[in-house]
Amino acid sequence: MGITYFENERIFKLDTKNTSYVIGIVDKEGFVGHAYYGKKLGEDALAYLMRIYESFGTPETNARDRLSFYDAFPMEYPTHGIGDFRESAIRVEDANGHFANKLTYRSHEIFKGKKKLAGLPATWCEKDEDCETLELTLEDKEAKLAVVLSYSVFNDVDAVVRHARVINESDKTVYVTKAMSASFDIDNNEFDKIVLYGSWARERYIDRTPVSYGIQMSRSMRGEGGHQEHAFTALLEKNADQNKGEVYGMDLIYSGNFRTLQERNQFDNIRMMTGINPDDFKWELTAGADFQTPEAVLVYSNEGIGGMSRCFHDLYRNHLIRGYYRDKKRPILINNWEATYFNFDTEKLLAIARQAAPLGIEMLVMDDGWFGNRFDDNRALGDWEVNEEKLQGGLKHLVDEVNKLGLKFGIWFEPEMISPESKLYEEHPDWAFTVPGRVPGLARNQLVLDISREEVADYIFEKMAKVLHSANIEYVKWDMNRPLADIASAALPKERQGEIFHRYVLGVYRMQERLITEFPNLLLENCSGGGARFDAGMLYYSPQIWCSDDTDAIERLTIQEGTALIYPLSAMGAHVSDCPNHTVGRTTPFATRGAVALAGTFGYELDITKISEDDRNQIPQQTAMYHKYNDLVRTGDYYRMASYRENHYYDAYMVVSKDKKEALATYVCVKRRPNPRSRGLKFLGLDPEKTYRIEGEDRTYLGSTLMNAGIYIEEPWGDFQAKLFHIVEA
Ligand code: DGJ
Repeated sequence: MGITYFENERIFKLDTKNTSYVIGIVDKEGFVGHAYYGKKLGEDALAYLMRIYESFGTPETNARDRLSFYDAFPMEYPTHGIGDFRESAIRVEDANGHFANKLTYRSHEIFKGKKKLAGLPATWCEKDEDCETLELTLEDKEAKLAVVLSYSVFNDVDAVVRHARVINESDKTVYVTKAMSASFDIDNNEFDKIVLYGSWARERYIDRTPVSYGIQMSRSMRGEGGHQEHAFTALLEKNADQNKGEVYGMDLIYSGNFRTLQERNQFDNIRMMTGINPDDFKWELTAGADFQTPEAVLVYSNEGIGGMSRCFHDLYRNHLIRGYYRDKKRPILINNWEATYFNFDTEKLLAIARQAAPLGIEMLVMDDGWFGNRFDDNRALGDWEVNEEKLQGGLKHLVDEVNKLGLKFGIWFEPEMISPESKLYEEHPDWAFTVPGRVPGLARNQLVLDISREEVADYIFEKMAKVLHSANIEYVKWDMNRPLADIASAALPKERQGEIFHRYVLGVYRMQERLITEFPNLLLENCSGGGARFDAGMLYYSPQIWCSDDTDAIERLTIQEGTALIYPLSAMGAHVSDCPNHTVGRTTPFATRGAVALAGTFGYELDITKISEDDRNQIPQQTAMYHKYNDLVRTGDYYRMASYRENHYYDAYMVVSKDKKEALATYVCVKRRPNPRSRGLKFLGLDPEKTYRIEGEDRTYLGSTLMNAGIYIEEPWGDFQAKLFHIVEA
């Protein structure tokens, strides 16, 4: 790992263990371009990679064709309005309303360690020796604007993280209408692209298609990432699969409106870009002020899609997720949402806890419905006071009783929301987002609080903190059940209404930072109507995120496959629920539900007092299984062997410990084939030289045998059957 500046060649080379990212400065004006990203390069003379003598040359050699240079040169941070007609990374309107910018090299600094991003989540390194940073300052001399591009590389992960800070060095106010986090150009190599798409209850489905000409974009305007599209994208060679081929992954550490795109142009180059969605974005920069973009993550792997996923997992586990539970097994929880919905009281919750405790469940989570007059989802959001009609004896009494049973206690909040039918709305109708003179649209009968206003955020935070201090509460589920619309803030003047979306996200981050600072041992789980806020920004505050409201084991195979493409299994909220499943009406074996939930944080989401005895009797075995395998699942390397989404019959994935001494493979036969022969399954990621035993079998195998020849699994009788293979070094 290291960053080197080759002064004579004007080349920066950012190395990770297996990759290099190369930036060059060209022309006497000092344009900064992208030279290379991919497999690691040696200490060679790399300036030729800038290709400045091709076709139109640079302005220095061919001033009459300056625009042709702009429109072909792979600018490291492309600007708007001067002749690069591809997507720009930055657009700034000056005091005269002009918006053309030209950025060239001013200075740079290389240092050990990594600075924090003010108010934003970002990767970090524990010790300065663990990472290195390049700060490359570009300037627009005419507009008196500086842009600091910051890049960091880590000792232990093949990732480059980068962000930009825009500084107004003029003495007039300007407006930033676009400031992306990352952009890089690459020659097309018959690339495919992967994006994630979905909806409520089917989040993060994988879509792989060729990159076509023009712009292909994923984006959100919902004020959060959303169920529908994702800030992640990947470019991959045509023949790349799970295990081989070049793959470039890009993700954004942000939880608001994003724009992530590929643009394939006339020269068959592809521009990759990600950042805050510039739609409805306009940020006022007074003289001397700056704007900080969120951080983007770039990952390159020549070990296929799986290699890319493992890099993201390591980066997020080692350099993004924080806090008490980062490296710890999470308590096995039982959540009452699918068990009771709004219909519960102290006695009902205690009945669940009493049955849960002896079976190995470790925490009771009280979901939506414990506050104000919240008897259904039509009212009371904002009234964060305990409903003692439901919780007879109060919250502390309930928590104490639950604790006496040996269980921890967790609680649900939806802090950013307000119901029109609530005491809070009666007192502060202006705290909800509404465009003056317009009736705002409801979603789930609720409105969104203007969390961009500090006094609103502080009020809600203090209400939450009061509840959390009132009893021994060790977990919070932070939910958000509608997107933002009808955006207008009473606190900002008209020129600054374009700041609201981003200020809202900053407000949420500020509240969550306060929460984990004031309650450092709290386990925070983010959630948004299922998995609409499963993003890298949220992982900085909560080590786990609720994956989806769809808890059906078979639907979860696809949802968890898409989620694990980027995010570590340690972060995926996954529960065993009751059948027929509440989202799709499917009935699957209890054992299969347990096996699938084991790939995540593991817990239950059912009325344990009502399920069959047969199911209940399986819980001790499942909770023991969680304790047996969770260290491996949480910390190991993830490999995908087969995708039910692709083959329509079966799913198979495995986790291998870093020392390759142990692995757990999960096989789910979704549909039994008629008259089948046994199915061959080749394991991945093992040490070919090591000798392994599959638990339950007498014989041993060489790792190379298990990976090259594999094993044969007899097709189980009936659909939806799961089987686990615990593989240990003999
Ligand atoms: C959406 C969440 O995803 C559910 O788990 C549950 O907490 C409900 N909201 C409660 O309203």
